[in-house]
Formats: sequence, C-alpha cells, structure tokens
Amino acid sequence: MTTGSLLAADLVIALLAAAAWLGGGAAAAARRRPFALGLAAVALLATLARAITITALARAGWWFAAEKVFIAAPLALAAVGVAGPRLLRAPGDIRAVAVPLLFAGYATSSALLVTILHGYPASAGAGLLAVAGVVAATAISGRALGARPSRTVSRVALVVAGAALVTGTGLTVAPDAAPAVPHDHGYPAAGISDEPTRRFTLTAGTTTVDAGGRNVAAWAFNAQVPGPELTATVGDVVEVTLRNRDIGRGVTLHWHGYDVPNDQDGVPGVTQAAVRPGQEFVYRFRADQAGTYWYHTHSASDVGVRMGLYGVLVVRPGPVTGLDVTVPVHTLAGRPLPAPRVEQVEAGVPVRLRLINTDSTTHRYALAGTAFRVAAIDGVDLRGPTSLVDTAVLIPAGGRYDVVFDAPATPVALFVDGRAVYSTGPLSTVTGAWPVLDPLGYGATAPVPWPRFDKTFTLVLDRGLDLRGLLPRYAHTVNGAADRDIPPQVVRLGDVVRFSIVNRSQIVHPWHLHGHHVLVLARNGEPAAGSPLWLDSFDVRPGEVWEVAFRADNPGMWANHCHNLAHAEAGMTLHLMYS
Ligand code: C2O
Ligand code: CU
Repeated sequence: MTTGSLLAADLVIALLAAAAWLGGGAAAAARRRPFALGLAAVALLATLARAITITALARAGWWFAAEKVFIAAPLALAAVGVAGPRLLRAPGDIRAVAVPLLFAGYATSSALLVTILHGYPASAGAGLLAVAGVVAATAISGRALGARPSRTVSRVALVVAGAALVTGTGLTVAPDAAPAVPHDHGYPAAGISDEPTRRFTLTAGTTTVDAGGRNVAAWAFNAQVPGPELTATVGDVVEVTLRNRDIGRGVTLHWHGYDVPNDQDGVPGVTQAAVRPGQEFVYRFRADQAGTYWYHTHSASDVGVRMGLYGVLVVRPGPVTGLDVTVPVHTLAGRPLPAPRVEQVEAGVPVRLRLINTDSTTHRYALAGTAFRVAAIDGVDLRGPTSLVDTAVLIPAGGRYDVVFDAPATPVALFVDGRAVYSTGPLSTVTGAWPVLDPLGYGATAPVPWPRFDKTFTLVLDRGLDLRGLLPRYAHTVNGAADRDIPPQVVRLGDVVRFSIVNRSQIVHPWHLHGHHVLVLARNGEPAAGSPLWLDSFDVRPGEVWEVAFRADNPGMWANHCHNLAHAEAGMTLHLMYS
C-alpha cells in the first residue's frame, strides 16, 4: 500500500470511528439498544484499526503521523478506556452509556479535526484545544441527558480548558513573521549590450479567441492564445517589451524554467511591480540555456494563466535540423488547446516534439506509431535516453518533455489524455492502458556532483486553517503555515542546498522553484537511478517524499511554490532568499 492510500484509508477509518461513536451515543440516548450496541462495536473496531494505520504512517515518515501519535492516539485510548468497560458491563438501561459513547465520539472527532485543520507539525496548543473541546461537549451533553459529572472530571475539565485558552491562542499569533519581501525595484539589466538581440513586444489585453470552434473570452498576449512563440539561439540577448492594454489585475512575464537574473524574473511584489493598464516593462536577459521553456504572467497568476496569458519560449543551440514542433497544452474555458494538427512528414526526417503543460494539473501524453526517446526534460538534455515504444509520459503542471524520433513511413500520432493533438496521418490507437515512464529510472546514471550539502530544508505540504488574515481560510500550507507566514529558505551564494518535499495531503502538488534547476536525489527513500534529472517542475503525489538539491548560484529573492496556481495563491508559496 502506498503512503498516499494509507493516508486516505486512515482518514476514512477515523471518520467512520467518529461517526459510529457519535451515532452509538445518540442511539443510546434514544434508548435504541441494539442499534447503540451495534454502532459501538463498529466504533470500537474502527478505533482499534487506526492503531495499525497510524503505526504504518509513522513508519513511512514522522511527518505523516506526528499529530496522530501525539493527539489522536491518546484521545482514541481515552475513548476506548471510557466507553469500553461501560459497554462490557452492558447496563440494563442503555441510556446510562450515552454520555461515555458521546465522549468517545467527541474525542475521535476532535482528533480528526486536528488532522484536517491543523496537520503538521503537531503542537501542544492544538492538542489542548482539542481536549478542551471534548470536555466542553461532554459536559454539555451530560447536562442535557441529566447525568451528574463527578467532581474530579469537572476539575480536570477546568484545568484543561484554562491551559487550552493560554496555549491555544498561540495558534492565532504568527510565531516569527517572515521577513518582509522587498518591493518594486526595477534594476536596469546591465552588461549585455553588444550581443545579437532578439526583440519582441507582447501586449496583454482582454479579447475573444477561438477555442475548439467556439468563441470564448480570454486574456491574451497580442490577441492570441497561446501568445506568440518566442525563439532565440543560444548566445542571443532576448529583449521583450511587455505592455498592458487593459488587464486590471496587472501583468508580468515570468520565464518558467529559465534561470534569468532575479530582476528579470517577473514576480510582482518580489522582483518588480505588476505592470498596470497603460504601463510597460522591458525584460532583457541572455539566452544561455538551450531548450523548451514557456512564459506566463505572474500577476494574479491563477486566473491570468488560465485565461490565456502564456506562450512558448524555445532557445535552440543552432539552426533547426529536421522538424521541430512545439505542443503547448492548455485548457481554455474548458476547451483543450491546441487544435489538432496534421502534417505530412517524409520518412527519415528527424522530428522533435516539444511537449509543454501550461495547465495547473498533470497531463498524460502518448506517442503512437513510432519508437521514440525523451531527449530532454524541463529544458535539460537527458544522459543516454533509451528507445521507448507504447509508453506514456506524465507531464506535471509547468513541465516540458522533448521527445524525438525519425519519422517512419507510416503515420505517427501524439495523444494528450486520449485526444489526438498532432499527427502525420490517420492513426487511431487506444493508448490508455500503456505503462507510464518513470523518469527516475530512465537513461544513464551519473554521480551526484556534490560531496556534501551546506543547507538542508524540509517542506511538508498539507492543508490547514489559516487564521492570520482578515477572514479565516482553508489554505494549502507548507510546514503548517500559509504564504506570508512561511519562513523563507535562507542560503548563501555558493551553498549546495538540499531540500525534501513531503506531501501529506490528498492531492498532487507540482513543485516549482524559480531561478534554479534542482537535481533529483531520491523519491520515497529510493535514490534516482536514471539520467541526472535537473527539473524545475515535478509532481509530488500524496504520500511522496522527494529529495532534491541545487547549487545556490543565482542571487536574489525567488518564489518557491506549488504550480497548481490555485494552490499557490491559497497559501502554498514561499521564498528562497540569499543572505
Ligand atoms: Cu510558472 Cu512561479 O511560475
Ligand atoms: Cu499544490
């Protein structure tokens, strides 16, 4: 069983236990004896089953189980300890066990709430708050049912409630607020004046575009979705003038995967101010990474990218040989882009398909009709990629795969989630059952280039209640905090930095660090066994633990966030900062 399914199973069992205890208590209060006893038996079994899931989770990694061991387990023990013996004595009047059963229900429910709302790391405040809730609810139920609480119980309740009040408030106060992110500086990009310059102008505006035969409202660069394809040759200087015609939320250009100088990175509030309607901003950087990239707005990025403010950036090492096709996949107003394209290709012509996922969720790509190799991922060439047939690839949000093959005499077709997007002739194949390539075991290995690491960080991804804003929100969190309150990762120039990303939530988080490619070291404790993988976007699935590393060689303040852009805006963004 994977840790992801274990997390889900544990949640379901916990929910079942809580519901059965509460139901049993209610049935007992209503003097429905068989019903009450049946539910209590289910509750007891479910509570005991959690001993197994919690132990297994703790073995998979402490991050997955901390609050369950510290808070849920003691509360479950109390539940069984209080309700169990009373049930065994099987009282003549079933109503006598109503309060103990309800107590068990409150105990298991409040532990469940701690997991759902608070998560990792476990804190004493959360534990006490949970206990206080249980005590209060039990006292109220006892009153309502006319049971007399014992004096010790009332005393314990008072002490716990007092302690909870004191430490629980710690939950609502930021411990040490993250250092303020600097704002609004527009450095001129110096020192690159004589090289050949590729100049482009991108004008952002609202418009209507054709998406799969229907006119839909969009936000677009130069009135097209995707925006114009920007191409350059290694060594060129790229100069892009960004204008905003009428995008009220502001626009910027972020060069996804391109490790530009910090002041060209296009993150509003961090590296520049958002470009407002009527304003412009000029980006300049040297194109010294070859490969497949893309650009997108980083202002109100979730809605901005979704509405169409993105485009392709390709930097080639030299003149194109053979056929070089970009396939930026996107969902615009519920319609899949791009429109299917068919072109005849002479047999023997080398073809490169640059697959780009510009959506916020993973897509599945399947190339039928030919053997192929994955030549590059996230713009970086792989080492010794072998030939693949009838194999699909999963590309995370923001990620890119370059696949190459020599055109056969017969048709070839590329399917994205089962839909033909590019083909060289008629070919219908069902690709849904194909195995999926694991890039961590593909290609030829090479040793990790660093003997040691200067800094280590761990990011635990979860969901939780964020009470620090004006209104409480159910945020996507990193180490129990949401954006603005997540302490930055502070490094020094030249450090070799290792960080682990742990996903203890129920959903995939495509991770994306700006300004650096990270080398994948291991996943779930298994060292990467294929070509070195230098990624800027990778899916961390529920229950997974990724270990990656990079050299801190690009000073500045860099966003480090989930590329499900809705998650990024709902808290899952932090920063990498050079001291
Ligand atoms: Cu492609 Cu911070 O994003
Ligand atoms: Cu996410």
